Amino acid sequence: MTKVKAYRVDAGIVPIKLISRTKRPTLDNKTYSIITFGCQMNKLDSEVAAGHLQAAGLTPAQTVESADLLLVNSCSVRAKAQDRATTTLHSLPQTKNATRSTRLVGIMGCVAQQMKEKLLDAPFNADFVIGARALPRLPEIIDRLLAGERKIVASESERPDCDYDPAVIHRTGKRSAYVAVSRGCSNLCTYCIVPYVRGPIWHRNPENIINEVSQLVQSGYLDLCLLGQNVNNYSHGRWHFTQLLERLAQTDRLRRLRFITTHPKDLSIETVKLMAHPPLVPYISMPLQSGSDRILRLMNRGYTRTEYLEKVAWLREHIDGSFISTDIMVGFPGESEADFEDTLEVVRLAKFDNIYSFIYSPRPFTKAASLKNEVPRDVVKQRFKRLLALERQNNIDSLHRFVGSTLEVLVDGASRKDRAVACGRCPQNVVVNLPHDSCEVGELVLATITTAGIHSLVGKVTRRLVPAAKS
Ligand code: 5AD
Ligand code: SF4
Repeated sequence: MTKVKAYRVDAGIVPIKLISRTKRPTLDNKTYSIITFGCQMNKLDSEVAAGHLQAAGLTPAQTVESADLLLVNSCSVRAKAQDRATTTLHSLPQTKNATRSTRLVGIMGCVAQQMKEKLLDAPFNADFVIGARALPRLPEIIDRLLAGERKIVASESERPDCDYDPAVIHRTGKRSAYVAVSRGCSNLCTYCIVPYVRGPIWHRNPENIINEVSQLVQSGYLDLCLLGQNVNNYSHGRWHFTQLLERLAQTDRLRRLRFITTHPKDLSIETVKLMAHPPLVPYISMPLQSGSDRILRLMNRGYTRTEYLEKVAWLREHIDGSFISTDIMVGFPGESEADFEDTLEVVRLAKFDNIYSFIYSPRPFTKAASLKNEVPRDVVKQRFKRLLALERQNNIDSLHRFVGSTLEVLVDGASRKDRAVACGRCPQNVVVNLPHDSCEVGELVLATITTAGIHSLVGKVTRRLVPAAKS
């Protein structure tokens, strides 16, 4: 069993709400499985949870169905995401099965924070609920589960000085890893539930981040992704995002450094200039949300379309082969045809390389949820279709430019569609499919691109740069 040090888990703790207490068998020699929904921060949180469960003596289950402890890590950014998590919870064999008395089901993440004790009752029947803000209390909750307690709800906010020991994280990537620089968000975009479920932003100590990065690189990780709901808002004492990035970029043997998600209002020219040089990659995820100044104001985004386009121009000018990904929302309350046309115009002008489009979904606690002027459903659907058509063309044009070029690809697994195809990512973060017998997971190769699809590239390995095994 690994000995895990939990950093100041007592900070800001209020007593756990204990709904009921029943004695059940302990979890010794038991297995666990985690189902993760949502963003990269949730993926990292699941790795933290897996680390704590393993430290408590549990081992990964062969299948979800056979797990003695099942944890659903949930996302509530849109109603559909929330439904996916809750439906999973109540359709699990563990919650339906008669033998359930020996099995435990828990829910963590944003829906856990949002719904709290409601998840303990039918039809969800969770044994424990750990809100996104109560993540540092995981070891304590596991201890209580081990001691036989059930129906536990932990949902209080973390204190800003409440950090975790990165050694606890059970990393799932072979060469790629996530490093959180901040948690929570204080922007209060009027449509977004995140600040309410994840709490206000708090920034990790730069020393902890620098040490974590250097330890990861020493243990063979080549590709690191810094995470923050608003990553470039990072600020700790005299440290700001660009300084942190500059310092981390100096880490010896680090091949790739990226960060998500960038808020356009906080992107500085210094960061852009830094991105032109490895190990920083030429990839950025910078949500536009809307191209209409009126809607951007209603969303409380803090920039205009002109300012956004100016930042796109910086990226195009300073970074060779820049790859810009964005998020766009359709159907925000009161969005007129003219507002939507403004969005399409920005899409054409920015020539995004990748777009994630979403239909606006009213969320609890948010300011926008009380706005009355909903856009009719059929109008939203039509607009969404028009955006998708443009998005498709943008993607095709963007990926086509790679055909014939040679890219560095970090192989990270097999294709979901065809197990005979290996998958990797190039520095622009685009999926590159390669013949599986030409490379191994964890290997860094050079590949010549032969074909471009809408979302991925196909290539042939021309040189093997770094072997799969970690040195
Ligand atoms: N409805 C629809 N999409 C949303 N997003 C955030 N909140 C909502 C919402 N209420 C989208 C934004 C964000 C992405 C992660 O999810 O585009 O950038
Ligand atoms: Fe939500 Fe806005 Fe924060 Fe992103 S920046 S998490 S959209 S409030």
